[in-house]
Amino acid sequence: MTFTKHGERLNLMTDIASFDENESDESESSTTESPLELKENLNKPLALTNPIVQKPLQPPPKSALLNKADRSDRSVSSTSDKRVSFEMDFKDRESEIRKEYDDRLKKLKEDLEQQQKRQEAELSANKRQLDAAHTKQMEAAKKELDERLAKQRSTLEANERAQLDQLEKDIANRRQILKDRFDRELNDDKADYESKLAKARREWKEKMSAEEAKLAAEFREITMKERETTKQRLAATTAVVHRAERATSPIQILTVDRATVTDPLALPAPVVSPPSIVSSPLPAKLEPIARAPIANATTQTTMATSQVDALTAKLEAKLQDLTTATSDLQDRMSDLGAQARQIAAEPHGGTRHAASKSNKGPRMCSVKATDYDGPFPHFSAPTEIGRFSLDRNRKVTNDASQLKYLYRAPLEEESVAFDLSHGHKRFDERDPFNQETLDTFLEWITSMADSERQDLKTVTHSAEFISWRGALTKIASTPYENREGWRMACIRYADIIFICEFRTNTKQQQLESASYRQKLMTYWGYKFEQYMTLETADQEKPETDSAVNNFEQFCTVVRSRLGEGPGHRLLFAGETDCIDPSDNAYVELKTQRQFENKSQKNNFYRFKALKWWLQSFLVGIPRIVVGFRDDDGFVRQVRPMRVREIASNSKDHWAGAVCFNFLQSVLSLLKDRLTVNDMNAVYFLEWNPGWQNVGVKPAKKSDTRFHFLPDWFVERFSEETHNEADGRLVASC
Ligand code: A3P
Ligand code: MG
Repeated sequence: MTFTKHGERLNLMTDIASFDENESDESESSTTESPLELKENLNKPLALTNPIVQKPLQPPPKSALLNKADRSDRSVSSTSDKRVSFEMDFKDRESEIRKEYDDRLKKLKEDLEQQQKRQEAELSANKRQLDAAHTKQMEAAKKELDERLAKQRSTLEANERAQLDQLEKDIANRRQILKDRFDRELNDDKADYESKLAKARREWKEKMSAEEAKLAAEFREITMKERETTKQRLAATTAVVHRAERATSPIQILTVDRATVTDPLALPAPVVSPPSIVSSPLPAKLEPIARAPIANATTQTTMATSQVDALTAKLEAKLQDLTTATSDLQDRMSDLGAQARQIAAEPHGGTRHAASKSNKGPRMCSVKATDYDGPFPHFSAPTEIGRFSLDRNRKVTNDASQLKYLYRAPLEEESVAFDLSHGHKRFDERDPFNQETLDTFLEWITSMADSERQDLKTVTHSAEFISWRGALTKIASTPYENREGWRMACIRYADIIFICEFRTNTKQQQLESASYRQKLMTYWGYKFEQYMTLETADQEKPETDSAVNNFEQFCTVVRSRLGEGPGHRLLFAGETDCIDPSDNAYVELKTQRQFENKSQKNNFYRFKALKWWLQSFLVGIPRIVVGFRDDDGFVRQVRPMRVREIASNSKDHWAGAVCFNFLQSVLSLLKDRLTVNDMNAVYFLEWNPGWQNVGVKPAKKSDTRFHFLPDWFVERFSEETHNEADGRLVASC
């Protein structure tokens, strides 16, 4: 029999078995447990053994049992005694063992229970700990989740708010655009209506003046006849009076032609009848005269004479007016006749070099581009000799205070959205009807002369021509122009020909009838300048919310020479938009409708590009920065354009050489025509669409509108010009 607990064997049963072989079973007491029962009993607690029992139950040592049996075996002689003794021993031993075993079992159980309790307590403590940790973790996770949720919610809310703001902004922008469009359309309608009204007024005026002219002609004819008749009547009346004075009898008085005496102006024919006796009765009107004495008749005649005199004076004044108008017309006719004769007499190319040395020479230059083909004439690189600024009050300062700096960032951007209409209503605009003369430029010249103590010749670098750059641009572009005419007033003073542009009548009318959109588009150009310029080189961004004004200007003053040999020495000033801080070159800013097809691009190079090129080339500007806009006035892209490339891209349409050859000829013509210094002698250089030539003709001295040289300028330099030993100067200088 094996007693197994954790693999150990108890050989107690072997000993019992060996004993059984020698001893009978009968004496086995029913009250005591059999070895089998013992075995079972021993087994019982083991069956209860909990796996968590760490120390196995130890049975009594085997040697103790065996030694005792051995001893009894040897000391007891009789078998039964031995048996009894053995059994007693065995029982003692068994009960001892059992007791010990029970004790140990009990202890074991208690330990076990305690251990179980401890473990349970530990378990429940662990559980509590775990629960607490779990709760803590759960709370932390919940908190984190809540925080994340709150964060996400606030991000979402912020996004939503931003989207809403954007939406509101978009709506406001759209609303503004629509409003502007509506305003524009409304104003366009208004402008349309006004232009129609102006047209109707003009037509009516024209009709009225035609009527007036017709009436004046009729009146003139009638008055001429009347005058003749009156003279004859007067002569007849005088004769009658003389006769009456000489008459000796009242009968002779009565022989006077009655009708003549009564109302000489009312009678149809100056018939003086020979004195005769009138037998027929007198009409009632003539009764007083017929009966009056000679004195009465004389008084009547004197009154009639004074009436005739007054009328004659009136008629003469009217006649004088008509004669002046006729002579003006004749002047104009003779100009036109001369032009016609010129055209007939000379081949087209001839006029190009036609300016002769005397002012009796040709008065015009052909404008045909083919007459000016050929190499580019000499044009010395424009040299800046000064700069000046005009402030909001148009005060001239001899500095660059109004020079702006190019804002380069938009050039790097793929696309932009500059609203050029923004702030249109606040446009601080110079009066477009105000006629700009050379005044501010002349102020600069004067201030230079004052500050540098220089004479006019030195200040102007011995210039032969002084003008704004714009006048030269207009003249030079004429061979390719077919839409816009121009008129320049020219005065020679101190050996300088001053050229000043004056609006043509057509231009004036266009200005008066300009539509809202045209005015808005004019604003666009200035607004673009605001988007693209900085006040100082270190300003971060342009200030685009302030009102745009076109009073402030920065001008560069440039000298150059056109033509071979002495050529023409030019001094001109031009408004300059800004300077590029990256290379200190002046930059011209322009807006242009985006090109959507080839023909639009073609048109640009054909017409607009020439003006751009001339404007920049004349003052040596290398780059133009272009704002390409849409029809709503939004600049979508900003790109540079090289002035040199403009000329090469336009070679199918125009040639710069033609323009400069033509300019050279016109300046020669002016030099030939204006040979005398006379600040009161204004000449017009003029061209209008359809004209084959540019003509020079003197303006009427009485028309002071064109005497553009201000007194303060003339007075400032008159002294020095008089002092010059130049015989060509006239007293008026
Ligand atoms: P754009 O040239 O971009 O149209 P400038 O370019 O000569 O410095 O002129 C600046 C702006 O003034 C022009 O911008 C245009 O808006 C306006 N402007 C100049 N000359 C004009 C003219 N003859 N008629 C109408 N607007 C003119
Ligand atoms: Mg410009």
